[in-house]
Amino acid sequence: MDPLPPVPVGPLVVAALPEGSASVRLSLIIPTYNEAKNVVTLLTALESLLGPVLGESFELIVVDDDSPDGTAAVVTNLLPTHPRVRLLHRRNERGLSSAVIRGWQVARGEILGVMDADLQHPVEANLKLLSEMDRGADLAAASRHVEGGGVSDWSAARRVLSRGAQLLGLLLLPGVLSRLSDPMSGYFMVRRDAIAGVVMNPLGYKILIEVVGRGRIRWIGEAGYVFRERVEGESKVTGALYWQYFAHLIRLRWATLPASRLFRFCVVGGTGVVVDMGLLFLLSDPKTLGLGLTRSKIIAAETAILTNFLLNDAWTFGDVARSLPGLKSKLRRFVGYNVICSAGVALNVVLLNLLFNFAHMNRYLANAVSIVAVTFWNYGMNKKLNWAPVKTDSMLPRPPSGRP
Ligand code: GDD
Ligand code: MN
Repeated sequence: MDPLPPVPVGPLVVAALPEGSASVRLSLIIPTYNEAKNVVTLLTALESLLGPVLGESFELIVVDDDSPDGTAAVVTNLLPTHPRVRLLHRRNERGLSSAVIRGWQVARGEILGVMDADLQHPVEANLKLLSEMDRGADLAAASRHVEGGGVSDWSAARRVLSRGAQLLGLLLLPGVLSRLSDPMSGYFMVRRDAIAGVVMNPLGYKILIEVVGRGRIRWIGEAGYVFRERVEGESKVTGALYWQYFAHLIRLRWATLPASRLFRFCVVGGTGVVVDMGLLFLLSDPKTLGLGLTRSKIIAAETAILTNFLLNDAWTFGDVARSLPGLKSKLRRFVGYNVICSAGVALNVVLLNLLFNFAHMNRYLANAVSIVAVTFWNYGMNKKLNWAPVKTDSMLPRPPSGRP
């Protein structure tokens, strides 16, 4: 019996499977909070469903947040006789979405799945999701809103709330929610490669939106399922979850706004302008040291490049930089940044002199105009060459199998 895996800490990032490591086809995460009465029924149903299809190439990882009802103890008792089952017992962290990602972090699967523990999700839908993944989908989601889908006995109020939440999401994040017929679904599978190295930062329950919003998800497959009524235990959904959902949409909106990285780059660039201008004044202004314009400009620009690099590496491209750890790779990025920005400085000096000497523009206005022009050069080249996300085989073109 495997000893209990240590609970991962730090950023919510799923690593790619190390070359040649013992992997399995599917790792299914089952987040639990007070599901002692449901979890055994679910695990045994899953074993008898997946065993004939996947043999030993699957694992069921229960992630329990120290449930007061003793769910972790119930699962621990199962471990000796259920080799496919693993338990992650969290004591210092709480929350459905983070529980799922922590489970994926210890998983050995090429395909990472999640479903609820309270038997409201019928286990059979897993086979439909698996066949969508086999057909080439990057992500397969179980949906209540496609053929074969539905909810068993929902009050009108709950239907309005669920559809209302979906509508709000479509308003704020159309690019993400329009790709799914049931974006609220907590039942799906994703190809590990499509999220490897991506820093996730979910809030509340909606892990599917987080994965589609931040992951490299090209092809989405869907399968209908009927969401059943809960028999044992209670739903953990509270009013606070709806606020968390709203805050999550805002956070994802900001993170996925293509402009948001450019915006951050410009903010950093702005601090560089302050450093650049400040030093240009201190070095070249007749009232201060009165050194030569070009020499002062080069010193000012080089200092600004250094401060800008540190800020861009930590903030603007922080997510990519964190997936490229180590001083060596940071130094490589600094050299690359220097080369690109130095070319930018040369472009800046040429533009500055053209505008100052030929267009007779005020020296500081000319400097500002050329800095803006060069910012776009710097941003484009650095994003493309210096902070390019780690390439994985999920970036290779795939045959379309489901929703775009
Ligand atoms: N580890 C952990 N930590 N698990 C949790 C936590 C937590 O803080 N909160 C809830 N869970 C587990 C529950 O034990 C259950 O297995 C699953 O997450 C879903 O929780 P429920 O409270 O039963 O959610 P629901 O049935 O109201 O909502 C479900 O259906 C919705 C509609 O599809 C969830 O799947 C939602 O994500 C989904 O939107
Ligand atoms: Mn439930």
